[in-house]
Amino acid sequence: MQSRPEKPRLAWAVTGSGHYLEECLDIIRDLDDVDLFYSRAGEEVIRMYGHEPKAVNGSGRVYHDRAASAPPVGLFYRGDYHTLVVAPATSNTVAKMVLGLSDTLVTNVYAQAGKCRIPSIILACDTEPEMETPAPDRLVKVWPREVDLAHTHKLRSFEATTVVETPEKLLTAIRLRLDEIN
Ligand SMILES: Cc1cc2nc3c(=O)[nH]c(=O)nc-3n(C[C@H](O)[C@H](O)[C@H](O)COP(=O)(O)O)c2cc1C
Repeated sequence: MQSRPEKPRLAWAVTGSGHYLEECLDIIRDLDDVDLFYSRAGEEVIRMYGHEPKAVNGSGRVYHDRAASAPPVGLFYRGDYHTLVVAPATSNTVAKMVLGLSDTLVTNVYAQAGKCRIPSIILACDTEPEMETPAPDRLVKVWPREVDLAHTHKLRSFEATTVVETPEKLLTAIRLRLDEIN
């Protein structure tokens, strides 16, 4: 296991979403002390959009979803992180979080952050009944289903969880949190 950082850092989980991906990468690049946690789809999708998963967060650590038991969750118990951001969060990951499932690295870090009372900020992809979203080669129209929108809505009621709908609101929520802990 990696050595403990001098002070708690920001944990940022990336799932396999093209929606808001570029905006999230822009925010990550401007932050210090961020470690990345990729879902398997997150790693694949970010490559489809032309980015190298390890090159986004400078000298920060990068964790991949390779093991069944998600060993990096131990870092949350050790106090390495003050906050978890999940952005962008796919319909799939949001649905699992709402059901309390933790069978991927990202759903595990969300569940364990909650159990450690570490606040999470989630940028959900499915917030509007109709959206325009970038596929790797073009813009496409998407109509999130009622079940997707219902999951996003339900997640808002979870303890220690802030759900935001846009990258601008995500940045504001992160800044507020960083001010709070500094
Ligand atoms: C190019 C590409 C873009 C995608 N964009 C989205 C998206 O914007 N929102 C979404 O919910 N799923 C999107 N997906 C599908 C997810 O990657 C897929 O549901 C995956 O199983 C999610 O796994 P994860 O939640 O563990 O990351 C996309 C897939 C591909 C190949």
